[in-house]
Amino acid sequence: SNKITIAIDGFSSTGKSTIARELAKELGYIYVDTGAMYRAVTLYVMRHLFVTESNFDEEAILRHLPFINLRFVFDEKLGYGEIYLNKENVEKEIRLMEVSNNVSKVATVSKVREMLVKQQQEMGKDKGVVMDGRDIGTVVFPDADLKLFMTASTQTRAERRFKELRERGEKVEFDEVLKNVKDRDYMDSTREDSPLIKAEDAIEIDNSNMSLQEQFDKILKLARQKI
Ligand code: C5P
Repeated sequence: SNKITIAIDGFSSTGKSTIARELAKELGYIYVDTGAMYRAVTLYVMRHLFVTESNFDEEAILRHLPFINLRFVFDEKLGYGEIYLNKENVEKEIRLMEVSNNVSKVATVSKVREMLVKQQQEMGKDKGVVMDGRDIGTVVFPDADLKLFMTASTQTRAERRFKELRERGEKVEFDEVLKNVKDRDYMDSTREDSPLIKAEDAIEIDNSNMSLQEQFDKILKLARQKI
């Protein structure tokens, strides 16, 4: 059968990565979490290049880009790849609230996007890939065979994210999470370079009132129609 490229875009905390990962497993495809790549670059910037607590010098980022090495290492037990930043597994650290608070700003830097988009295109060049992010169907793979655009109400997304963070033991308040979700929505959809928009040919899925199983079934069916 025919290997395809599946692009899943959408706002933060729409459950894109859970679905994308399951879908890749089912189809025997590679899964690429592009948000993890922006988060890992952000972690590097926070560790080395912050001038003040949440401000960076863009010139410094440009100078450091050649030294930021990202890699996904497949874990048999987990069934998906974990992200490594210069040989360090940063999968856990990149999910911290602090990183979430800074990532959308780092993601506005065009040279950062250029570098990551190139790597993403390379990872998906043989098809058989499920990639999730903000600009996959519009910029990374404008010719993707199947494009999905996931949405859910802001409240629903903030509740999901809050629950996730609490379960991981982070001491966050709901209002802080809600604010982060709203701020990222705004920054991601208004930035100049590759803003988050639904590709014309993307299928929109509002999962506010859908179970994971319902979403999975629907998306798998859409994928099978293309394979
Ligand atoms: O998907 P996730 O919420 O982990 O992404 C974190 C942030 O990375 C997003 O809010 C966005 O600012 C940035 N991002 C992006 N383009 C992508 C994926 C993520 O700008 N393709």
